[in-house]
Amino acid sequence: MAKARTIFFCSSCGASSPKWLGKCSHCNEWNTYQEEIIQKETSTEEKRRSWGGSSRSEAPKAVRLQEVKTGKTIRLATPDQELNRVLGGGIVPGSLVLMGGQPGIGKSTLMLQVAMQVDARVLYVSGEESEEQIKMRADRVSKFRSECFILTETNTSKILQQAKDLQPQLMVVDSIQTMSTPHLDSAPGGIAQVRECAAELLRFAKETNIPIFLIGHINKEGDIAGPKLLEHIVDCVLQFEGDRHNTYRILRTLKNRFGSTDELGIYEMQSQGLREVSNPSELLLSQKDEELSGCAVAATMEGMRPMLIETQALVSKAVFGTPQRSATGFDMRRLSMLLAVLEKRCGYYFSINDVFLNLAGGIRVEDPGIDLAIVSALISSLIDVSIPSDICFAGEVGLSGEIRAVQRVEQRIAEAARLGFKEIYVSKYGMKGIDPKRHDIRIQTLGKVEELKRALFV
Ligand code: TYD
Ligand code: MG
Repeated sequence: MAKARTIFFCSSCGASSPKWLGKCSHCNEWNTYQEEIIQKETSTEEKRRSWGGSSRSEAPKAVRLQEVKTGKTIRLATPDQELNRVLGGGIVPGSLVLMGGQPGIGKSTLMLQVAMQVDARVLYVSGEESEEQIKMRADRVSKFRSECFILTETNTSKILQQAKDLQPQLMVVDSIQTMSTPHLDSAPGGIAQVRECAAELLRFAKETNIPIFLIGHINKEGDIAGPKLLEHIVDCVLQFEGDRHNTYRILRTLKNRFGSTDELGIYEMQSQGLREVSNPSELLLSQKDEELSGCAVAATMEGMRPMLIETQALVSKAVFGTPQRSATGFDMRRLSMLLAVLEKRCGYYFSINDVFLNLAGGIRVEDPGIDLAIVSALISSLIDVSIPSDICFAGEVGLSGEIRAVQRVEQRIAEAARLGFKEIYVSKYGMKGIDPKRHDIRIQTLGKVEELKRALFV
């Protein structure tokens, strides 16, 4: 037998090298290179035999796609509607779900709540907290509905043995970084350990059909440790995010083999645990009586959900030579771009001013449909003229000052009307197929940012 060809892969970022390296030149991690066989050396005779050989009975057979039998998978619905939505309609049997998030954001709380409330037998494995600590938290957050078992252990062999005896319908592992497998010598939390433990849990989930939730910490770059590895091992990747000084939390899907990745769950952290927020708009609009300059409401979409969010801008004279720019919940570069458009196209000069931008509720928005509201808030603050509080905006601003259409305009309009707004400004290019009479709100269309000036501020 000839020698097999091998290559070295970085287990952190997936980069490859023909030689072993101590430090990965891509992600600068140390000791992450591992050897893997990519091609076995075989003779031509062997190659020929591999497809023309005589042992046909042993060869696997391809099946017509139409003829593949599917049983109807019954998903385990949790009482938590937000989690069901994010998972695409409940927990799929035998699936491995990774939930990532920064420390203290509420991952353990959320999973404990689910473990206690779901109508099934659950095994909650914790490598981080003691049984008493978990019980104290459990008493605070929820009533027991399930048969919830706690196991404080970090050795995967012992955990899986216990799981086999208990036969739970759902398993939670808090957290994957504290687990260790006896088959490896390296320290827990290392990439080799994380990968091996996740692979063991995956095998167990697929063999027994027990769904497993893995909790994973996020490293300082904002990735789940060993990101590439875990991401393709697991079926679903959820991310729990939010501002620690704020009570709102967002659960996002980054990957889902059984549903869409457009979904979003919203929670509020209270003293009795996490509460589902089924109607986010009403919370994200700040309650105030008087109209102030610098505020504008955006009709945004987060995934498939319309959300109305208040944007606030403060433009004030710069004290120092270089004006400051600061944005929370919004991309700084995009803010600079919008300021440049306003200067160039509309003659509003921000270069001698500090500009601060804030989105209510500590929420981060990526939907470009928020641009129009931000532009309006900036102008409003600059010239100190308020925008009536029953107006909202949905539109993307392009580099030449044009207002572009955004997706799902009709849903945004409907949400604004439902919340009692009287007027919505949208792009005139996105009105195809929309009948204004169907909605109980005045729809104003704009083509350019300049028109905004005339419509609102004169
Ligand atoms: P935790 O679930 O331990 O976070 P993680 O597992 O992601 O590290 O949540 C810890 C934070 O949540 C802690 O700072 C306190 C807060 N919290 C509440 O505000 N209310 C509650 O009922 C609970 C259980 C926690
Ligand atoms: Mg925790």
